[in-house]
Amino acid sequence: MAKKPKSGDNPNIVRLWPTTLLVKRFAHYQKVNPALLELFYAHCERDRGGPVHAYASKDDLLSQYPMHAELGELAEFIGQAVVEVAREANRGLWPDDDRVRVTLTGLWFQISNRHAFHEVHVHGNASWSGVYYVQAGDSGASADGEAGGQPNGVTRFYGPHLEHMAGGFGDYGNLYLHRNSWDSVPQDGKLCIFPAHIKHMPFPYDGERDRVIVSFHAQVFDSSGNMSYNYGFQN
Ligand SMILES: [Fe+2]
Repeated sequence: MAKKPKSGDNPNIVRLWPTTLLVKRFAHYQKVNPALLELFYAHCERDRGGPVHAYASKDDLLSQYPMHAELGELAEFIGQAVVEVAREANRGLWPDDDRVRVTLTGLWFQISNRHAFHEVHVHGNASWSGVYYVQAGDSGASADGEAGGQPNGVTRFYGPHLEHMAGGFGDYGNLYLHRNSWDSVPQDGKLCIFPAHIKHMPFPYDGERDRVIVSFHAQVFDSSGNMSYNYGFQN
């Protein structure tokens, strides 16, 4: 009787196009986050004259506060994490010892409450984007804490198979297509970096404390400063 191949060992199978994300917690979040909250609420107060339940700053926060120590510390952590996830996604394409440079082309904060949310969207003009949870508040996999309840303030990502599900055929053979979303549940100090082209949406949030996040876009350059996109023929 032929030996049943172990999962992943079948030489006849080609697996293509995985989606790579990074999730990690900032070791300094307990020090950094309170300082960020102070900065953000003071910024919001100046801009709007009081607290609001749906606020997004402009995306040039790093230029607005170039000397803010904790914001700088967070940007440094984010930059290193972008290299970490991009290096993994480009394994075999980047030389192991290549020194890459990350530019955070946009970084901004958002405060939400009273069911504020964003529609499904993608980010442009960047290879990687991300969200850092400064204050998760009452975010959770379900708002009422029970199975089957609606998620509260989670960031939901949709896989590339999503468009093929509309009017598509679903059976046991393509069960792997049916779970076409993944939720990042907010947690204080958690960073989630994703390919900028991946569809996502922050679910409506409601809680005693606001949900406060930092979002960002990143471009990555190789050691010679190139972005390395080649529009020409290869030979
Ligand atoms: Fe987004």
